[in-house]
Amino acid sequence: MSTLVRPSLAPAALDAAALAGLVRTVAEHPAQWQQHVRFDAGSRYWHRLATHPGADLWLLTWLPEQGTDLHDHGDATAAFTVVQGELQEIRVRPGGSLVRSTLGAGSVRTVPAGAVHDVANRSSGPAVSIHAYSPSLTSMTFWEPAPDGLRRVSTVSTNEPEVAR
Ligand SMILES: [Fe+2]
Repeated sequence: MSTLVRPSLAPAALDAAALAGLVRTVAEHPAQWQQHVRFDAGSRYWHRLATHPGADLWLLTWLPEQGTDLHDHGDATAAFTVVQGELQEIRVRPGGSLVRSTLGAGSVRTVPAGAVHDVANRSSGPAVSIHAYSPSLTSMTFWEPAPDGLRRVSTVSTNEPEVAR
């Protein structure tokens, strides 16, 4: 009896280093994203740049004080880079401590699956960033600080990036 072997049609997921390389490469080619930059004072703006094999690529824009809430990306690993302006990231460390980082143009951050962070524009000017997720984003869980670490607030199904709860 023979066994039929079916190759998987699903593209292989990219790891954090590959995603970081991807956003860095896209950032270096403004012709791929610059025409999609828009700013919306009513809500944050994002635009899907491409579905790269194994990863989703998005352009996000941030006016001053626009941001997300503490969240994770479910099963997706992510990377992002700032291409204009300045963003602040808050990363939750094991044990619940919060670490703030100011990210200028050219900064690249990776976000392991399940890691909790928050991204916001705390500067006085607009900011633009490019994000990649692999596998494609399907859910985000929102968290808030609690005396013993973090408290889960809600989980939303989404294929759009960095939504607020
Ligand atoms: Fe995020």
